[in-house]
Amino acid sequence: SIIHVILSGGVGSRLWPVSRKSMPKQYIPMFGEKSLFQLTAERSKSLVDRILVVGNKDNYLLSQADMMRAGVNEFTEIIEAAPRNTAAAIAFAAFAAQPGDILLVTPSDHIITNEAAYAAALSEAVALAEQGNLVTFGITPTKPETGYGYIEYNGNEVLSFREKPNEQTAQNFINSGSFLWNSGMFCFKAGIYLEELNKFEPAILETSLNCYEGRLEGLLPENETMLIPSKSIDYAVMERSEKIKVVQANFGWSDLGSFESIWEHWEGQGEIHRFKDNNCVVGSEKHVEFLGVSNIVLVETSDAILVLAKTSSQDVKKIYERLEREK
Ligand code: GDD
Ligand code: MG
Repeated sequence: SIIHVILSGGVGSRLWPVSRKSMPKQYIPMFGEKSLFQLTAERSKSLVDRILVVGNKDNYLLSQADMMRAGVNEFTEIIEAAPRNTAAAIAFAAFAAQPGDILLVTPSDHIITNEAAYAAALSEAVALAEQGNLVTFGITPTKPETGYGYIEYNGNEVLSFREKPNEQTAQNFINSGSFLWNSGMFCFKAGIYLEELNKFEPAILETSLNCYEGRLEGLLPENETMLIPSKSIDYAVMERSEKIKVVQANFGWSDLGSFESIWEHWEGQGEIHRFKDNNCVVGSEKHVEFLGVSNIVLVETSDAILVLAKTSSQDVKKIYERLEREK
């Protein structure tokens, strides 16, 4: 059967102060009534046989509430004691499945538009996954973004996978015209993923299996968790495996990673909820005016104000990390 694995690990620290540990961005009804998590669950309801959420102890109640809103009454939940990155999070999901089950792994915080194109890409990916491949979904790149993985491709074939290149390298990739962005969504058989993980990162497989076996009602034990090497699937498996294939995504995609990507996603679409675009982005209940400045993001919540040059969007994470340290 086809299992949708929804990863819900991050706090969305580049969207502070809107996104918090207590209310990460995927649970905020940021663009209208529904959260990105709820939209993710609704999207997959009719496309898959089962949903499995890998989240953590700070957010599993938020996931449950959104699942109810999405009308998903039955799903499996794996609750991490602490995040150990995606190689392990996906391994937990694979342990909970049969080796021949197809896992569709996606984040819970992406915007996807054009559902018909999404469904078509998914069935193409499932067919390739049935043949034993690790399938990625490639997005046509629009700028030398350094926070993404890059897929060198020819049709469905993947010539190389390069996670988070520096800006010059990313620019070269784009100029060459033969690279796609990795969307961060994957499709493969549970058993094939575990085989590849065992090939390249046996310590992650071993420690995460040990951790999984110690679970109590879905909650993973903390001591065993801390022994798992923290690495993303991209570095652990995708950069090294020879079984990678790519499906070109014709659907609209944004990972809403930073205020800059929110800005770009909504550009030209007028006023949307709290975010307005007229040279500057505003997220505030108050009347805000800008004079003599441009490319500024202003975000206000009940207890914090962020004023940000658009070009510094990636660095909001550093503020969040400093505040966490100072706590
Ligand atoms: N459950 C769980 N546990 N989820 C996790 C964990 C974890 O320990 N760590 C990360 N995640 C979730 C995040 O919440 C997010 O939804 C997803 O996994 C990807 O993690 P990110 O931390 O956002 O990865 P990234 O943005 O640096 O890079 C990935 O996504 C890009 C596209 O958005 C990579 O796959 C890149 O190659 C890709 O281009
Ligand atoms: Mg991300």
